[in-house]
Amino acid sequence: MAIDLSRIPKSIWWDSDPDNGLAGVFLLDQTRLPLVGDVLCCQKLEGVEMAIKTLAVRGAPALGVAAAMAIAVWSENESTATTVAEWLTGIDQAAERISQARPTAVNLAWGANRLRNYAHVTAATGKSLSELKADIVSFAQAMAAEDEAVNRAIGENGAALLNPGARVLTHCNAGSLATAYFGTVGGVIYTAYDQGLVSHVWVDETRPLNQGGRLTAWEMMAAGVPCTLISDSMAATVMQSGWVDAVLVGADRICANGDVANKIGTLALAVAARHFEIPFYVCAPLSTIDLTLADGSLIPIEQRDRRELAGFTASGVILPDDVSVTQAFDLLTTSGSRHLSFKNGHSMNIYRKGGSYGFDAWFMTTPPDVPIYNPAFDVTPADLVTAIITEQGVCPPEQVSSTILQVSSVIPQVSEIEA
Ligand code: MRU
Repeated sequence: MAIDLSRIPKSIWWDSDPDNGLAGVFLLDQTRLPLVGDVLCCQKLEGVEMAIKTLAVRGAPALGVAAAMAIAVWSENESTATTVAEWLTGIDQAAERISQARPTAVNLAWGANRLRNYAHVTAATGKSLSELKADIVSFAQAMAAEDEAVNRAIGENGAALLNPGARVLTHCNAGSLATAYFGTVGGVIYTAYDQGLVSHVWVDETRPLNQGGRLTAWEMMAAGVPCTLISDSMAATVMQSGWVDAVLVGADRICANGDVANKIGTLALAVAARHFEIPFYVCAPLSTIDLTLADGSLIPIEQRDRRELAGFTASGVILPDDVSVTQAFDLLTTSGSRHLSFKNGHSMNIYRKGGSYGFDAWFMTTPPDVPIYNPAFDVTPADLVTAIITEQGVCPPEQVSSTILQVSSVIPQVSEIEA
């Protein structure tokens, strides 16, 4: 079945803001998808940092590109450096700051360091400050193009493992939205579906932030890939029923011994897949492999706000059905937006949105003071992983270190993309 590529969403791109002509990092705001498809334009490092922390941009490979673009946008719009040396100091500080925005996905620091290194190496060639600034913008954009090429290669390598008509199960969102474009797991599914190798996708909801239910389900529906949404607790039953031929997940960090950090809930899927003898594949670029960490116990696991588990959020657009309702919302939002608090901690923000109004609501569903534990990621031991699918090929998890050391890339390097 042919995939309509034009319907696969793009998460991040570089452009200039038509309103003020300033350069900006443009992001599809993933906090409000799928019901509100806002595009954010970040013209400062702090804006991209905030977008990363709030998960407006998320997914390990997308974070790598966001980090590089954050530094480039600092250089374009905020740097006051008058010498190359000053500018490089600022680049180092920007890279350091953006690397700290989230702890688990190694791609974030990888993307920041890659751009920082490029800036230093290029500066050593004696270019002028204005040439260097233009160069790092091109480099950040080339990193986004490279990420798509990597995902297409992961897609081809992963599709080759599936039998015609395979029914796959996935967790979180490792689709196009989690990358610059196309996705890692998304890459495999889109490529395999195009080749008649995937017939159905089981989409795990992925509590607490529902990246599966909100983002993957939306991506699959947009691309026209048949899918069914399940809650995380249904996955084992679906496997037991004999309806899953392979589990495909992404990764935020893969250690030297092949242990894999990914969205919370991945470990439970791996355990169930092993029990039901279903292959469990991790789809990730080489940039997700962190050879500096010997095993998964060393991976920093992000702990997130209790509100993510204590309730649920909803975003939408308000459609006033008569003029008195419009007047009421106009009054509420005279300053642009209005925060409303309700008994029991529920809250709602109403804001003007073009000629209409949007809202972001949070509803508490738990006892107000219940103790909460909310790790965003877990670690799946290498022995539960059937294979890791990279742009370079497919390898057993225990061979991941030798694979990365042997890289003689089939993927064009950023320098070649630029040429
Ligand atoms: O917290 P998130 O939404 O950034 O978590 C994302 C995941 O865990 C993805 O599965 C992972 O980054 C792989 S993305 C190709």
